[in-house]
Amino acid sequence: MLIDVKNLDIDIVEKRGMPGAVFKDPEIFDRETKTVFRNGWASVASVQQLKEPGDIIPIKIAGFSLLIMKDARGEIGVFHNVCRHKGAPLIDKPCNKRVVVCPYHRWSFQTNGEFIGAPCFYRDQSKQMPSEEKAGKGLLAVRFAIWWDTIFVNISGEAEPFEEFIRPLNDLLSDYDSQNLNMISSTEYESSSNWKLAVDNFLDGYHVPFVHSQAVTLKAVLKQEDLFLSDDIVGLRLANGASDKPAKTDKPLPHFAGLPEEKTGMQQWFGIFPNTLFFVDPRWMQMILIRPEAADYSTETLSLYTVSKEAASDEYKEQRENLSVVLNEVNRQDIELLDKLQHSRTREAADQGTLVEAWDQVAIGFHKAWLKKI
Ligand SMILES: [Fe+2]
Repeated sequence: MLIDVKNLDIDIVEKRGMPGAVFKDPEIFDRETKTVFRNGWASVASVQQLKEPGDIIPIKIAGFSLLIMKDARGEIGVFHNVCRHKGAPLIDKPCNKRVVVCPYHRWSFQTNGEFIGAPCFYRDQSKQMPSEEKAGKGLLAVRFAIWWDTIFVNISGEAEPFEEFIRPLNDLLSDYDSQNLNMISSTEYESSSNWKLAVDNFLDGYHVPFVHSQAVTLKAVLKQEDLFLSDDIVGLRLANGASDKPAKTDKPLPHFAGLPEEKTGMQQWFGIFPNTLFFVDPRWMQMILIRPEAADYSTETLSLYTVSKEAASDEYKEQRENLSVVLNEVNRQDIELLDKLQHSRTREAADQGTLVEAWDQVAIGFHKAWLKKI
């Protein structure tokens, strides 16, 4: 390991940011897989990505390979993508299956993880496997929770209950009715950057008027407020972020049902530790799920939703499509930036940076949470 993260001076981190090595060192990445991603609540997919019973999405995240499955009854389940015989991977791309069959020795499993059978298990083909033996051969289930259409997993099984983890955000959003989220689009991205740079950038409101000048003005972000909800959840708020913008259409998407008047212009966005980037506008909601695969490589999914029943109708088709175009453009701008940052931010010279009291506190909050967990 190039740096001793245990002995990082927090005063220097607050002043200069994390040393660049934490964004590229493979040993640190390895440690993150064993701590941050194994022990925490990491997001892996969206419920509405799984449309039909039998839909399966394989996910690679921080050293783990998982299957998100919708079973025959329509229930979601999360399992290790590992056969119970000799550990072969079961599924390698999104698909729809009635039965999951291991490509190695044809062991088969239901989409709810139950073991079905293995060819000639006893060689003696007349012998049947007793049900208690079958019961121990099901796919290994992973603890998960669903919140705002997003599937969060806790691989160790030992994190605090998800309801407790998310409570500060639930309390803050108690006026928002999350029952009518309808996915507009779900887009996959890849980035040759460290996952922490993506989180840091999402929590950096300062860059928005410069990198995404089409989306917001500098004047608007001057009113930005920092939100520190817990060790794990930090964010930013623009009280009138949505209402300050000139309307691009005379028929805007309807907002959350029953949203109090003073919140109908509010925009808030949060980093939910470790890898979930959540943005809530009065009229739409966005989740970016980052899946680190190496110290300098991550994939991510940007899922975008309308938030009211009416907004899902044909009447608003054009508005939904326009929104998807704009927000995916913003994300492409960020990824282009992140790929460049990976090269410069990890150099020694970048460790002589100067963070700013007025703008960089929320991202520092994220880095402090990371230090604590690792
Ligand atoms: Fe950005």
